[in-house]
Amino acid sequence: HDQTHQRTAPVLSHISAAQMKHLLDTTDVRETAALFAYADAVSAAYFDNRIFFRGIVEFSNVCQKNCGYCGIRRATKLHRYTMPKHEILDCARFCMERGYGTIMLQSGELNTPQRIDWLVDLIGEIKQTTKQMDTKHPEAPKGLCVALSVGELDELDYRRLFEAGASRYLLRIETSNPTLYAQLHPPDHLWQRRVECLRALKRVGFQLGTGVMIGLPGQTTDDLVSDLHFFRDIDADMIGMGPYVYQEGTPVGDAHKKLRERAGQTEQDKMEQNARMVDLTTRMYALARLFLGAVNIPATTALQALDPVGRETALQRGANILMPIVTPTQFRKEYQLYEDKPCIDEGAAECSACLAGRVKWAGKELALGEWGDPPHFHQAS
Ligand code: 5AD
Ligand code: SF4
Repeated sequence: HDQTHQRTAPVLSHISAAQMKHLLDTTDVRETAALFAYADAVSAAYFDNRIFFRGIVEFSNVCQKNCGYCGIRRATKLHRYTMPKHEILDCARFCMERGYGTIMLQSGELNTPQRIDWLVDLIGEIKQTTKQMDTKHPEAPKGLCVALSVGELDELDYRRLFEAGASRYLLRIETSNPTLYAQLHPPDHLWQRRVECLRALKRVGFQLGTGVMIGLPGQTTDDLVSDLHFFRDIDADMIGMGPYVYQEGTPVGDAHKKLRERAGQTEQDKMEQNARMVDLTTRMYALARLFLGAVNIPATTALQALDPVGRETALQRGANILMPIVTPTQFRKEYQLYEDKPCIDEGAAECSACLAGRVKWAGKELALGEWGDPPHFHQAS
């Protein structure tokens, strides 16, 4: 394994809940700057300032769920697509050629036996196809690492997907507060079931990704502190956190909109609100880096919906992963989970070049041709 796995960095695993809360709330500019600088130093110690890429393919917007905040929830009227396998394989070849290391297959949730069989075959084909490809990176592991983000499934199905060759799984808990979770979802979406899925994924052997939305209506600083403890207790290897972004036509979004209208929110207010959200989200990145150490933390796309350089800022505050969108342009408009989602009109090659530039701008280096496993996973196993 990579030598970075042996490194240690000054993580603050004993930071108290009260200190975390203070660092999320403080308006002291020097304290905040110190938090961000410390997180960046820990990232640098583990990853040598290198940023890993995961190519994300949003292969289907078919979803059986009705999460209250999401733009592709079942109740939204929109054209539903599932990409044909050969197009997904083209995306996999593209990722391999670019040295991305990992392909992340994401979709709405659909737990039919047909979908599972289809995924099992697809994973096998991606592994087989990419193993046969030459890369410009002689040290690279054979084939792409396959990561999945396809929702709540039975443990037996998780096992089949793992045995087919998938190595990582992302399933956000969305919030560690069960009461808040119940307010944001219909009654048949159970927080406890999601926790059970996360435990099952860990048992099966996946590198586990989870995460939350930040700035949810009704969410408190105490909830965010609990989120950090939840990540530690579930033993997550990857933490995907993004700001909650308003989406018109959703129950949570519309309730939010009424409140904003009543308060007479101006364009200026909206900009200030967005800046506060980027600030709060990146404080969570910094605290996750300090508290959890060698986990992977992606700078999520939703940050860029609020701030044109939101993702770069995140790379300087603890994040070590970028996820260029590889989904063919024609499908992107139909995979809008939230408003102002960036990169809707771009193609995979443009996203690749754009993100490479952003890495440089942030003063980091691009790590190509490696899977980029989080040291945490190997330390734990
Ligand atoms: N704002 C931000 N993130 C969202 N997601 C869904 N809807 C929104 C929204 N309105 C996130 C959820 C989900 C992931 C796929 O997208 O956290 O887990
Ligand atoms: Fe479906 Fe995921 Fe959106 Fe929930 S967040 S409605 S599971 S796509």
